[in-house]
Amino acid sequence: MAAEKLDGREAARSVRSRIAAEISTFAETWRPPGLGVVLVGDDPASLSYVRGKEKACEEVGIYSREIRLAADAPQTEVLETVQSLNIDEAIDGILVQLPLPDQIDQRRVLEAIDPSKDVDGLHRFSLGTLMLGEDGFIPCTPYGVIELLKHYEIPTTGRHVVVLGRSMLVGKSLANLLLRRGEYGDATVTVCHSRTPDLSVHTLQADILVAAMGRPAFVGGDMVREGAVVIDVGVSRVDDPSKKRGYRLQGDVDYDRASERASWITPVPGGVGPMTITMLLQNTLNSAQRRMESSGRRSNGEVAPGG
Ligand code: GUN
Repeated sequence: MAAEKLDGREAARSVRSRIAAEISTFAETWRPPGLGVVLVGDDPASLSYVRGKEKACEEVGIYSREIRLAADAPQTEVLETVQSLNIDEAIDGILVQLPLPDQIDQRRVLEAIDPSKDVDGLHRFSLGTLMLGEDGFIPCTPYGVIELLKHYEIPTTGRHVVVLGRSMLVGKSLANLLLRRGEYGDATVTVCHSRTPDLSVHTLQADILVAAMGRPAFVGGDMVREGAVVIDVGVSRVDDPSKKRGYRLQGDVDYDRASERASWITPVPGGVGPMTITMLLQNTLNSAQRRMESSGRRSNGEVAPGG
């Protein structure tokens, strides 16, 4: 069986055009949603992600402000930068690009973000809300995976999803999302990780297999059940002298081998990545809408009684 492609670019175009239309109406009533992006250091992959996020913001009408700090910036400077965005009225969402340099306590920085602006969904308040199954900011990558499945009308109810990787950014958060009650939840979830023996025993039972360990081409065809849906969250740069830039992007899945057995599969690049950015746009719009409402204005622009 040759798998069909889960085209994240196509899905992202469709979701982004809806977001852009909503922002256009929203901005007429209030102001454009605003995103503050903090980048510490000059890691080329992080730089490239941040550029992608800013370009996407521009395309849908979100105002974005990038604050770049030196690779050796002290923790206090990063915390002060976050605090300046917390109190900035033009900013609805804050994203601190990860990973941060070693001298910075990543958790402390994420906790410094005002939870009402936590569009990355990585503050403990957002993660706790997700675990409770309540509405809040959902981390963008797992959110993107769910929206990609939704776009292609691939249900999760009652299906066995095997997630490889237990990171907060992807594996653990995605498992919690899939366990929520309701459409695009209600899955049976197995989470595997680096200490799981006999991975194939688990992966071969997956209706939906999600690879998010950051190990290039780790998942071969022999780990994929015939007819499974394969979602590849991994993106690694691997040396490739045949490319002008000297490297290529490689997912956690051996695409060609896995495609021979899967029913649906995401490419890398062009799969989950574009959806991750799209959900950042969605979270930023949601945040702006909430902030407008709590500032005492109704969406028709009238000032609410007492507002
Ligand atoms: N680095 C890689 N993925 C992410 C993400 O989703 N959010 C942030 N802040 N940094 C990342």
